[in-house]
Amino acid sequence: MRHYFFLLLLGLLFPAVCFALVSEGRPGIPYFNHVLFLQQKIVENNDVVAVSLAYSDPGEDERWKCSNSIDVFGGLGLFRDIPDRTWVLVDYELQSILIDNGFNGDADVFNVSACEDLETCLSLSEERNSDPQAQKLHASRPRAKSTVKANFETIQEQLELGRKLVKAARCRGCHNLEGFGPDHAPSLTWKRFKYEEHWLEHYIQSPYRMRPAIGDLMMLKYTSPNAKPSLKTEELSIVAKYLTNVATASAPSDRYLRELWQGYDCYECHTRLYKTEPIEFTPTPIPQEIRESFQANQSLQQCINCHPFGDLHSIKPQDPPGPNAFATDLVFVFEKLSINYLGAFLQNPSYLEPQSQMPNLGLSEKQINDILDFARGFKGAIENGNLSPNRTYYEMKKDGIN
Ligand code: HEC
Ligand code: HEC
Ligand code: HEC
Repeated sequence: MRHYFFLLLLGLLFPAVCFALVSEGRPGIPYFNHVLFLQQKIVENNDVVAVSLAYSDPGEDERWKCSNSIDVFGGLGLFRDIPDRTWVLVDYELQSILIDNGFNGDADVFNVSACEDLETCLSLSEERNSDPQAQKLHASRPRAKSTVKANFETIQEQLELGRKLVKAARCRGCHNLEGFGPDHAPSLTWKRFKYEEHWLEHYIQSPYRMRPAIGDLMMLKYTSPNAKPSLKTEELSIVAKYLTNVATASAPSDRYLRELWQGYDCYECHTRLYKTEPIEFTPTPIPQEIRESFQANQSLQQCINCHPFGDLHSIKPQDPPGPNAFATDLVFVFEKLSINYLGAFLQNPSYLEPQSQMPNLGLSEKQINDILDFARGFKGAIENGNLSPNRTYYEMKKDGIN
């Protein structure tokens, strides 16, 4: 009876749970002693490679079947000895969520204990939550910076508007979005919060070249009066919000399957137009001190086989085989990406960006941390004015073309 009551309670609370997740500050929402169900675990060669947690046991009663789940990203190893279909008590930080089709999140787990059944887990959770010692421990755990607070309705409305703007602007003429579209330009489908705050808005406002060998295709300037639609400042921030929150799908979305302009290829003209006046990419001069610390960092040495890092490596324009073929200049990578994303990306590029051409380099935790330390220092150097990235802005020249 008590068991049933809890399930009922869980079911009733459920919409409220989704609601609360969205309205809290993000990224990185910490949860402690949360009762979840280990739905599925995949082990390959003795390594846990995937874990999915659910809010209820979908097998127990059809009525509680729920598509809502959390993928474990960090802390997979903690589930090694816990069998599938077990109730668990977990401490984790929720990093990314999809609110499009049910709730689907991605979390770093710090601690997990298995329980005999749901009731044991619930009472253990209650016990721990009322233990002052445990509370103190939780309170002192460092937490990720959180960003905007907003309520569900306004977020949802803005995302809808963002989607409409992106559709009207036909970004998908070049980019993959919500898991669907061409690969002329870098994919805009990813998981987790990717960019430093406000980077996206600034970039769409005035796009510049980051991939020196991307070929003849340019990112278009949607704030130009020639753009249809030409995006206004408030619209840029809505587009940025939409990209940040909803473009994080990993599965193709059916919203985009049919669009009237489908046969209208942006790539064709915008490459030709650009070719008439090719952009000269001038790499950022790397100051001596940063150059030395880059060269002293063993983990970074292999990167410059594929990525340029300012003038530490020059990519010749005649090299590239096609658009998006060459990797981003690391100057812009370290500037634009959040540390959290960079670390997670290096750990598993194709999990975060299903279409990424970045190979999994099999870096150790120490190697990743060395790279993140360098990236932090690099961001600091930009902030202090010790380094200024050399931007080559994309600008359309109309002359002689119609
Ligand atoms: C004509 C093709 C084209 C269209 C249309 C286009 N883009 Fe791009 N976009 C590009 C190219 C090419 C790049 C890569 C530029 C570089 O790295 O130098 C890019 C880069 C970007 C980036 C940076 C991604 C990253 O992390 O490096 C964002 C964000 C972006 N575009 C958003 C948009 C949005 C939003 C729209 C619609 C409003 C749009 N793009 C329409 C070609 C296009
Ligand atoms: C038939 C050739 C052609 C095709 C196809 C084409 N464009 Fe354009 N586009 C142009 C020309 C020409 C201009 C410059 C217009 C002007 O200066 O009045 C332009 C300008 C733009 C601009 C303004 C850029 C700036 O910096 O001023 C945007 C944005 C744009 N196009 C988006 C797109 C998108 C998105 C697609 C694909 C869905 C696309 N275009 C397909 C010819 C084309
Ligand atoms: C074998 C070639 C290769 C090596 C080695 C390599 N990368 Fe990449 N990397 C790529 C390619 C290709 C991409 C995808 C193209 C893109 O988005 O620029 C990429 C993308 C990335 C991105 C995403 C960039 C963005 O703009 O979103 C990051 C971050 C990155 N690499 C970091 C690194 C670091 C750090 C190293 C060294 C530890 C490294 N890569 C080594 C080829 C490589």
